[in-house]
Order: sequence, then C-alpha cells, then structure tokens
Amino acid sequence: MGLKVSSSLLCLTILLAVSSIVSAVNITRVLEKYPEFSTMNELFAKTELTPIINKRQTITVLALSNDAIGSISGRPEEELKNILMNHVVLDYYDGLKLKTFKDKSTLLTTLYQSTGLGSQQNGFLNCSKSNGKIYFGSGVRGAPQYAEYITTVFRNPYNLSVIQISMPIVAPGLGSPVKIPPPPPMTPPPAPAPKKGAATPAPGPAEEEDYTDAPPSLAPETAPASAPSDGDSPAPAPDKSGKKKMPAADEAEPPSSASNSGLSFGAVLIIGFVAIFAGF
Ligand SMILES: *[C@@H]1O[C@H](CO)[C@@H](O)[C@H](O)[C@H]1NC(C)=O
Ligand SMILES: *[C@@H]1O[C@H](CO)[C@@H](O)[C@H](O)[C@H]1NC(C)=O
Ligand SMILES: *[C@@H]1O[C@H](CO)[C@@H](O)[C@H](O)[C@H]1NC(C)=O
Repeated sequence: MGLKVSSSLLCLTILLAVSSIVSAVNITRVLEKYPEFSTMNELFAKTELTPIINKRQTITVLALSNDAIGSISGRPEEELKNILMNHVVLDYYDGLKLKTFKDKSTLLTTLYQSTGLGSQQNGFLNCSKSNGKIYFGSGVRGAPQYAEYITTVFRNPYNLSVIQISMPIVAPGLGSPVKIPPPPPMTPPPAPAPKKGAATPAPGPAEEEDYTDAPPSLAPETAPASAPSDGDSPAPAPDKSGKKKMPAADEAEPPSSASNSGLSFGAVLIIGFVAIFAGF
C-alpha cells in the first residue's frame, strides 16, 4: 500500500513538473511591464484565470486600461470571470493580422467558449472593420460593435499577443451591458465622398514601422480557422493540456528556465524513487 501511495505521488509530482515546463505564456509577467493594465492583471489573478491563460500556447488578450476596466471591475466575481474570459481569444492576432483581414467581419473564439457554457455564440467575438477602424463586439447576432482596437501592446508571434481595446465587451447573457459611448461608430457617413478640406493624417506611422519586417505568413489565410458553427471549442480543453502539449515543450522553453525546470524535474525524480524505496 505504501508503494501504491508513493508511486501515485510520484506520478503526480512528475505531472506537475512537466506542466511547469510546458507553460510558455506568462500573462502576469507580460502585463506587469505595463502599469496601465495592472487592474486587469490583478483581476485575472483574483478570478483564477491566470493559470488557465498561461496553459495556452496561442492566445490574444484584449487588454483594458485601468480606466476602461473600471466599469466592470466591481461586478460579482463569477460574472467578472466570464466577462474576462471573453477577452481572451484562442488564436494569435496582432495589429498587422487584424489589418489584413479581408472579410468585413470575422468571428473569434474566446476562452469562454471553452467552458461549454456559451450560448447564441456569446463565446465568440465579432471583429469588424468600419471606416478604416477595427471594432470588437460580442459574436451574438446583432450585438453592438463598440470596442475599438487601439494598439498592439505586446507581441510574441505566434504565441501571445496583447492588444488594447477601448472598452469592455459584455456579451448578452454574461451580465448587464456596459454603457456604450454616444457616437455610434458603425453608422456609415451619409455621403461616400470624403471632405475636401480635411487632410486626414496617414495611419499611425510608428505602428506600421513595427511590422515592416513581419513575414508574409501573417496573412489570415494561414491562421488556424476558428469554426463558429461548431459548438465545441476548437482548441484543446485546459485540463487536457498536460498530455497534449508535452511533445513541443522542450524546444519551446527558453534556456534559463528550461535548465531550472530540468533541475527541479531531476530532484522530483530522485525524491520519487526514494519514496518508492521507503515504501518497500
Ligand atoms: C509568472 O510571472 C510572475 C511574475 O514575474 C511570477 O511570479 C510567476 O511565478 C510566473 N508564473 C509562472 C507559471 O512561471
Ligand atoms: C459582425 O458585425 C458586423 C458589423 O456590425 C455585422 O455586419 C455582422 O453581421 C456581424 N457578424 C455576426 C456573425 O453577427
Ligand atoms: C507557440 O505556439 C505553437 C503553436 O501555435 C506551439 O507549437 C509552440 O510550442 C508555442 N511556443 C511556446 C514557447 O509555447
């Protein structure tokens, strides 16, 4: 019996060690560098989403500044958790990729969809373009598209991207809607002719420069397609990650933490074997 207990303990510790090697995304560490997103970082931790996000290998966080998140930060924890899960997209999108979308609107799968609780596509976001701007809203049909893309805060192709949006998205069914700002962004101008007097500045040069050396493979066609018609999440469920991600783990880990993990992995093995012999 002692053997049984200690070997299952061994299995558990090995599993834990392996899963710590696998985690390549550390959303806490990334957001820590940007104080204007500290509230969102705290709320990810408070709602216990941080480890769930970190288990993912390909993710885009739609980040809200401390000001922007104020309107939802006081909501009940379960509601807040669901809303925040809707701000974590299970694919990689940075500014360039969003700008190269050819379709007028695209559905993006969020972490909320992976809970299996989604209904009427409220686990999806609708990303649409209007007047040269990019907007996000819930994927529920007819839901308003009011959260505007502001900038790409952090990008590590093709694993983690953090893009800032102007305001929270609260999907129908996930809580009372947020107040939508007065100027409706989706209203097309009555006349297609542009104003002659107003010289519109070119789109943000600084950001464009960031992408000049980006590979052409950033085109949306190469992205793994999210299948909105399918009710199930196309991405692996978080609890299966231990098994599924193991093969890619070694090459993915940066050298310093890899050796750290290797060391603790070795220690775990030794402890495990000692435990087995002690069991005899
Ligand atoms: C992520 O980063 C934070 C802050 O740097 C650190 O405290 C935490 O241990 C890291 N988590 C993992 C899973 O590496
Ligand atoms: C996404 O938003 C656009 C713009 O409002 C709309 O035309 C389109 O029908 C929406 N897509 C879905 C699936 O609701
Ligand atoms: C990045 O994502 C790819 C899949 O998109 C995965 O194979 C790879 O292991 C990930 N890299 C890290 C460091 O997790």
